[in-house]
Amino acid sequence: MVFRKILFFLLMMMTGGSLSAQENLGLKDVYKDYFKVGCAINMGNFYHPEDLELILREYNSITAENDHKTGMVHPREGVWNWQGADVIANFCRENHLPLRLHNLCWHAQFADWMMYDEQGNPVPDEVFYARLRDHIFTIVDRYRDIIYAIDVVNEAMADGGPDVQPYRPSKLYERFGDEFIAKAFQFAAEAAGPDVLLIYNDYNAADRFKSQRIFNMVKKMKEEYGVRVDGIGMQGHYNIYGPSAAEVDSAITMYRRIVDHIQFTELDVRVNMEMGGQLQFSQKGEEITDEVKARHSEQYRALFEVFRKHRDVIDCVTFWNVSDRDSWLTSSNYPLLFDKALQRKDAYRAITSF
Ligand code: GLA
Repeated sequence: MVFRKILFFLLMMMTGGSLSAQENLGLKDVYKDYFKVGCAINMGNFYHPEDLELILREYNSITAENDHKTGMVHPREGVWNWQGADVIANFCRENHLPLRLHNLCWHAQFADWMMYDEQGNPVPDEVFYARLRDHIFTIVDRYRDIIYAIDVVNEAMADGGPDVQPYRPSKLYERFGDEFIAKAFQFAAEAAGPDVLLIYNDYNAADRFKSQRIFNMVKKMKEEYGVRVDGIGMQGHYNIYGPSAAEVDSAITMYRRIVDHIQFTELDVRVNMEMGGQLQFSQKGEEITDEVKARHSEQYRALFEVFRKHRDVIDCVTFWNVSDRDSWLTSSNYPLLFDKALQRKDAYRAITSF
């Protein structure tokens, strides 16, 4: 008994220092031999020094939640709005944080003016492509010193079962077919050169039907259009009920046959049933009981186990926002690893103790 007590005391002495050191370690340190761990940030974070402190402690990759989107930086022909975009880029520069540029071509928050003339009539295809090319070259040039990956095209594939037509019927697709995807990748490759990863990014990317469509499209881009697509971004707007770790595992296993890089680009795990992208979420939370919290941690734990298994192809896992205080889902969805007071939740411990 006495011996046990002495042993316990000695152990406490020995681990005491390292435990408090661990408090200062962040996700980026825990995962340094696996992949980068990043987060999406917005202007709001710059009014909260404690957010910036957390970001610097935990993360080593940055995505702008909105400020680098096409419609934000380039709202009209010849008009560029670099305000928020530069604040984020300069934060990266000052702190030596690499940037994922998000995004160049997406049907939402897009610079729709590129498609029309002053009378509102559609411009010829080559005018649209020249404008898109100019946009891509300008933004890539401005941030080329910090960009390591680009979400070149966002959300171009359709949701639904096996029988839907593969592409999302967006204004871009209806007008240009899948050629707009190829052009965006071609311009991004010309602008960014070989050292920056060019990513196709989508949600529900672990769905068994949609993942097949994403796979087929990327294959077609590479083999038929002859453009470079380096990686697939799985957004990862998940919930505590799904997708299962097995579904995520199978999607990665399929994608790695066609690309060498996979990134989880917008990870969060909400505690209600909704899944999906921009237009398909609710602000409705659920009562967050201990059981729900346990499921939340377990979903994160299981996902990160899969991520670690595929560390040879996964180069970054990015959380969509810093904490539950600033999540796009609102705190009632309990989505992230840090609560409203920026404290680490159980899910944090679930993914860092392995
Ligand atoms: C999509 C987009 C992101 C963001 C989220 C919602 O997933 O890719 O840029 O707009 O929706 O915040």
